[in-house]
Amino acid sequence: MADRYLSFTATAPGRFLTARLGLPQPSALSRWTAGHPSLDGHLLHLTAGGPSGLDLAPVLARSGLPTATEAAGATAGSATGSAHGPATGSPGPAAVVLDATGVRDVDALAEVHAALHPVVRSVAASGRIVVLGAPLDTRDHHQAAAQQALEGFVRSLGKEIGRGRTVNLVRLTDASAAESTMRFLLSPKSAYVSGQVIGVGTAERHGGPVDWTLPLAGRTALVTGAARGIGAAVAETLARDGAHVVVLDVPQAAEDARRVAARLGGSALTLDITAADAGERIAAELPDGLDVLIHNAGITRDRRLVNMPAERWSSVLDVNLASVLRTTDALLAKGALRTGGRIVATASIAGLAGNAGQTNYGASKAGVAGMVRALAPHALAEHGVTVNAVAPGFIETKMTAAVPLFLREAGRRMNSLAQGGLPVDVAETTAWLAHPASGSVNGQVVRVCGQSLLGA
Ligand code: NAI
Repeated sequence: MADRYLSFTATAPGRFLTARLGLPQPSALSRWTAGHPSLDGHLLHLTAGGPSGLDLAPVLARSGLPTATEAAGATAGSATGSAHGPATGSPGPAAVVLDATGVRDVDALAEVHAALHPVVRSVAASGRIVVLGAPLDTRDHHQAAAQQALEGFVRSLGKEIGRGRTVNLVRLTDASAAESTMRFLLSPKSAYVSGQVIGVGTAERHGGPVDWTLPLAGRTALVTGAARGIGAAVAETLARDGAHVVVLDVPQAAEDARRVAARLGGSALTLDITAADAGERIAAELPDGLDVLIHNAGITRDRRLVNMPAERWSSVLDVNLASVLRTTDALLAKGALRTGGRIVATASIAGLAGNAGQTNYGASKAGVAGMVRALAPHALAEHGVTVNAVAPGFIETKMTAAVPLFLREAGRRMNSLAQGGLPVDVAETTAWLAHPASGSVNGQVVRVCGQSLLGA
């Protein structure tokens, strides 16, 4: 269902009226299209806390945005006193990358303020602020305090910045290992990802040359629950990136699954993912193995716990969690996921923040996050496969269109971007995690929620 409020606030009278009434002011987000793959404008590269030792410049140079060195004079060295916006009259940056990995104490946090305070107003609508942080040093509580402070800073700035602009924090030690992440965050593909803290490790052992145009060419991706909704969008985005996509869904959805598969030049697999032998059947269907496994199928059976029969509890736990564990275990045990493979599971902000009427669903989705965090290091060490999760917030689908008007409006507006996300926003985030160059992103749970005000 169309978001009429968003259309209304895009008009001059709508903007005027809603501003006067103190109502939310969503800005239409700029999203990726083939003809418009990059943000419009330049990238400003700032540093706080002294030189970090990261070799960032080549990675930023390949982000698709011209880097402004003259604007800040701050591509190296302390930002204090040197960070300033472009000359008056010229458009502000489309993106700001603040390297704060060198921030080791509270005094150095002043440089974060000094770097961003003068430029934040000028960042373009739908622009990006990406703060780079270092991993927390548990042997140095001053460093840990200052680096953890960056999280509160980023999440607070995300909530106040407005105009469709996003703010995220990436913790890293190796700039080249973070290239796919930086490209994603600095592009329109990350339109609905804000307020996130993403950890990036060191470069993957198996990494080879990367085709940034068709990164999944020659690879096979299986998406569960892909006959419609978010799963269909994920299938479409992975196919855009070159994958042969297997569209898996239940027998009742076989016709839709075949239609999606035919449109994408992929194949359909009719299978209830809760079947005890689902993993074996997938492996039998794909004797050459697969590269990307997307656990997207999910159901809700909402009731407050006092009214919830055991069957409603167990059906949700079975589809959303037990089958994810079962098929993952079976496919890994069979060696069906090729080295360099990617597993992306679907959690939900309901699993991170909790939601009335969703004890079953919240439990299942929190379980997905637990699985991802525990399995990721082993799957990488033993199979060369990464394991991550996306946690969608309010996404405009048939499911959310059926939510009663008041709750729907609350869900849409109660996030920093004051609007619902689209299935493609979850799909783009999934495609980044499935990317061959994302081998250093492992064990992450990334919310695609426009920084929902629901906690956690
Ligand atoms: P949807 O209901 O539109 O699509 C789910 C698909 O999964 C359907 O095609 C369905 O037939 C399939 N499916 C269900 N049970 C299955 C089974 N046992 N075996 C194989 N396929 C099965 O749902 P939507 O909205 O596209 O959600 C996709 C995922 O995203 C789910 O995991 C959901 O929990 C999650 N999510 C969705 C949010 C939203 O706002 N729509 C928010 C947070 C999470």
